Amino acid sequence: MNNYLLRGIGVLATVGALSLLAFSLPSGGEARGDGGDDRMPRLTHAAWQQECASCHLAYPPAMLPRASWRRIMGGLDRHFGEDASLDPATQADILGFLEANAADSGNSRMGSRVMQGMDLHHPPLRITETRWFVRKHDEVPHAAWSRKSVGSAANCAACHRQADAGAFDDDTVRIPK
Ligand code: HEC
Ligand code: HEC
Repeated sequence: MNNYLLRGIGVLATVGALSLLAFSLPSGGEARGDGGDDRMPRLTHAAWQQECASCHLAYPPAMLPRASWRRIMGGLDRHFGEDASLDPATQADILGFLEANAADSGNSRMGSRVMQGMDLHHPPLRITETRWFVRKHDEVPHAAWSRKSVGSAANCAACHRQADAGAFDDDTVRIPK
């Protein structure tokens, strides 16, 4: 074999190894075990995305414990002043998904933080009522919550510009005027 051919094979082998490496590295959002406190594992679930993201953000399951999701899904006909009821099969499907990824499912680091100081005897109906949420937002000026551009604390996306993609870090947050 001549020198060129050998070198050629060497290059090809290196490229091959590199692309294998690239494929074996996790790309984009990691499915389980999120990267940090504020980056949610990227989750997809057809019914959840269709039914729970029409009026507001599809709130990350890891932000409430299973008991909370059970309460919420059990009262969709009286959901914060709205009728968000679903057929029983869809309701059960979504609840299963929420429970599997809930704060106390052990599936995310954010979930473990959310569980710190959680009172499971009184599972909250709102993320915004959890101690975790209040603690994370103690620097937000009181008046900001009721600003017209925000509306309510539940309107995460008003400040967290990439909340839809599961990003709640300080790089993507801005309180609107
Ligand atoms: C018909 C509209 C509608 C649909 C559909 C809907 N919601 Fe809501 N949801 C609301 C409203 C209104 C609020 C109260 C928002 C506020 O306080 O500003 C709310 C609030 C919430 C909150 C509390 C937010 C917080 O921390 O304050 C959770 C959790 C929630 N919804 C979950 C769900 C889930 C899960 C589904 C899908 C099964 C769903 N919602 C579908 C209208 C809806
Ligand atoms: C009025 C604006 C506003 C709204 C609405 C809001 N947040 Fe925040 N959020 C902030 C600010 C400001 C911070 C602090 C950022 C920092 O200090 O890094 C923050 C911090 C956070 C953090 C912690 C990020 C970190 O780096 O530790 C999480 C998670 C979070 N918010 C989730 C939510 C969720 C979920 C909702 C809706 C239920 C929400 N926020 C609604 C402004 C808001």
